[in-house]
Amino acid sequence: MQLPDPKLDGDVSLEMTIHQRRTVRSFHSKALTLKQLSQLLWAAQGITEPGGFKRAAPSAGALYPMDIYGAVGEECIEGLNPGVYLYELATHSFSLIQKGDIRRDIAMASLGQMWMSYAPITFVITGEYSRIMSKYGQRGVRYAMIEAGHIGQNIFLQSQAMGLEAGIVGAFEDGKVIQVMGIKSTHEPLLLMPVGYRR
Ligand SMILES: Cc1cc2nc3c(=O)[nH]c(=O)nc-3n(C[C@H](O)[C@H](O)[C@H](O)COP(=O)(O)O)c2cc1C
Repeated sequence: MQLPDPKLDGDVSLEMTIHQRRTVRSFHSKALTLKQLSQLLWAAQGITEPGGFKRAAPSAGALYPMDIYGAVGEECIEGLNPGVYLYELATHSFSLIQKGDIRRDIAMASLGQMWMSYAPITFVITGEYSRIMSKYGQRGVRYAMIEAGHIGQNIFLQSQAMGLEAGIVGAFEDGKVIQVMGIKSTHEPLLLMPVGYRR
């Protein structure tokens, strides 16, 4: 699915989004628009260097070991079937990699935090350590985790700036998340972020 171009301005100040940001754990499945999805993915990992490759969040050595997946529910995002999608940043598109609504499975894999399953989309931020360990060795693992935090904060602030809310979940079983998402076993899930409207 090709995504619309992201906007480079907004209605709320950065200071206000920082002030208002909170972890939210109560969502309803009101659908998001493709524009909202586009904006969230761009804030997470969009290319922000015209004609280049640098992304919205910093990366040690500009090696970018991260990927962003999304688990989407039925009638949760305008024009998207339920499934697991991968953000393809080079083309600013969202590719279906597995059909079906797995939001409850992700919540179960997150030690039963069922509140997550009500959000229309849960973003899964993964790191592939080999892409950064080739230069930094074991320290690359730390760098990937730090990068996940930057991406997570971008998702938080972009959600807030659009009148949406986000949650953040670090308590999950890595292997189960990989299994239910149907993603490569080398893509380590580092943070899960349900996003949507607050209930
Ligand atoms: C790395 C990390 C992991 C977290 N994991 C969870 C989690 O599994 N479940 C949850 O409900 N909140 C989780 N949180 C959210 C924290 O509980 C929350 O950030 C904290 O209470 C401060 O509240 P605030 O984010 O609204 O400022 C996590 C936060 C971070 C940074």
